[in-house]
Amino acid sequence: MKTYLFAGASSQIAQATAQLLQAKGNTVIGISRQPEIAIYDQYYQVEGYSKNDFPVIDQTIDGIVYFPGSINLKPFHRLNSADFVHDYQLNALGAVEFTQAYLGNLKASENPAIVYLSSVAATLGLPFHTSISMAKGAIEALTRSLAAELAPKIRVNCVAPSLTNTDLGSKFLNTPEKFEASQNRNPMKKVGEPIEIANAIVFLITQDSSWMTGQIINVDGGMNNLKTS
Ligand SMILES: NC(=O)c1ccc[n+]([C@@H]2O[C@H](COP(=O)([O-])OP(=O)(O)OC[C@H]3O[C@@H](n4cnc5c(N)ncnc54)[C@H](OP(=O)(O)O)[C@@H]3O)[C@@H](O)[C@H]2O)c1
Repeated sequence: MKTYLFAGASSQIAQATAQLLQAKGNTVIGISRQPEIAIYDQYYQVEGYSKNDFPVIDQTIDGIVYFPGSINLKPFHRLNSADFVHDYQLNALGAVEFTQAYLGNLKASENPAIVYLSSVAATLGLPFHTSISMAKGAIEALTRSLAAELAPKIRVNCVAPSLTNTDLGSKFLNTPEKFEASQNRNPMKKVGEPIEIANAIVFLITQDSSWMTGQIINVDGGMNNLKTS
């Protein structure tokens, strides 16, 4: 059985992923700013997701997933440099520092894997998304170059969801009218559920995807590739 490590463990997508992995007999370690979340097998509460925040973990880790992210949407003229830097730090640089912190643990595994979280906004041009699209674009670029650098030892892949029913997406879904409008914008006429993203993450972090690396998988009801109206 394998051991997986999640940053941003309070994320609803993270918790759905942990439960799927645990149901197959694996161990999941959570790192989060929140007080202990009972579902994890081991748990570390941290201040944030910068270099010095990550605890030393003295065991082999078979896979890591970086979940922290944001959806700060504003017109371009109202975004300042601090907004861009904040989104970049949380969504992209945090993933770099998390990965560097546990690279040694991963190298001790026979078949290690890394999964990152992007967004449909990294490749689909959407108004008010400049800051988050730059930050998530960086994580997709990281996925490809790091996959090349770490092959054949460590696989690196990424999942890019569109709007999913979690706290992060709640301001777009918090009335029946907004929820319905969001469904109607999606080719599958549906907002994503955490389990639908979790299924893709489990596939990429386990040996089920043993011949895949450097890939960005869109789990988005077709949003990124289709135009249906
Ligand atoms: N929900 C969507 O519509 C959607 C769409 C596209 C991409 N995504 C991506 O999916 C990933 C997981 O999000 P989710 O939908 O599961 O959301 P969620 O349940 O609301 O979880 C939010 C996540 O972001 C972290 N976080 C939020 N604000 C933070 C801050 N200021 N500083 C540090 N960490 C912060 C939380 O970490 P703690 O555990 O420390 O609280 C947690 O991991 C994110 O990377 C997000 O960008 C989500």
